[in-house]
Amino acid sequence: MRVGNTWYRSIWRENGTGHVSAIDQTKLPHAFEVFELACLNDAVRAIADMKVRGAPLIGATAAYGIALALAERDTQAALDTAARKLFAARPTAVNLRWALERMQRALATVPAGSRAQAAFDEADRICDQDAAVNEAIGDHALAWIRDKADRNGPVNVLTHCNAGWLATVDWGTALAPIYKAFDAGIDVHVWVDETRPRNQGAALTLWELMNHGVPCTLIVDNAGGHLMQRGQVDLCIVGSDRTTANGDVCNKIGTYLKALAAHDNGVPFYVALPCSTIDFSLADGARIPIEERGEAEVLTLPGATAGGFDRVNIAAPGARAANPAFDVTPARLVSGYATEHGAAARIDAVCGSPTAATAS
Ligand code: MRU
Repeated sequence: MRVGNTWYRSIWRENGTGHVSAIDQTKLPHAFEVFELACLNDAVRAIADMKVRGAPLIGATAAYGIALALAERDTQAALDTAARKLFAARPTAVNLRWALERMQRALATVPAGSRAQAAFDEADRICDQDAAVNEAIGDHALAWIRDKADRNGPVNVLTHCNAGWLATVDWGTALAPIYKAFDAGIDVHVWVDETRPRNQGAALTLWELMNHGVPCTLIVDNAGGHLMQRGQVDLCIVGSDRTTANGDVCNKIGTYLKALAAHDNGVPFYVALPCSTIDFSLADGARIPIEERGEAEVLTLPGATAGGFDRVNIAAPGARAANPAFDVTPARLVSGYATEHGAAARIDAVCGSPTAATAS
């Protein structure tokens, strides 16, 4: 994606070297900063501190984390420790496990001593494939928007959190069809949920869309139902952190309420996801581990001030807060899924085979 006059991915390796860089998403939209991942611990911290976030990007970062660990010390013990530390960095997005398993498979027959290079190469392949997969998702899901484009006025899409190029290596999942629609000349407008408490919608999605020139409007998380009642939302498109074999969709907290409101108002509710986000080992969403984050994210608000960045308190001193980061939308509330294989009403029509998804 272009930022100013430069094309960026959200994470990249300098040609043929061991230098891995990424965009620091904790600084956006106030500052565009690139940081280097110099070692395993940098990768672990970047994921845990959400400098990089979004299910596919977490997986890509973990892949480079394995390579960086092997560049430091190429032993089985180092590989096992790296996989364990990276796996523990965040619990919900299954792409993390997917990427670690893929790296371990790719390295299984490579002799110690040459595994760092093989790991960097495999991580590069994961990134290239993620960009291609997401573009394919955009092509398939474009039909959802095109179907609504045959009348006056813009097609109004509501999205939650950030499932754009910042959440992936490039293109995004939920935002990929929006970029495709805009680039195809379709009149499209996006309602962007702010996505409390970390405000990925306000900070990241809005920045991305504005950067691309896509018309968009920020709304508070509670506004979506009202807009749907008034006929101001034509469809919802969200991403996913883990979708189970039956099509239950785990995504950023608040997604479920949007799906309920969409269902009540007859608004199609779509999910765009790569197959690496499907967890075939879980029959349904009940046992997905839901990340519980710290109270401070709820009790304070971040923002730009004249002097830099700051957080302000929004609750009485001593107040307690709960902060579940994800929720599960049951498959019965989902109108359709788009993966790299196509778009359909049921997940099993677009998920490829479980073996292929694990192996690719
Ligand atoms: O906590 P985050 O910012 O990592 O959560 C991200 C989301 O919930 C996205 O919607 C999801 O990862 C899909 S990204 C293509």
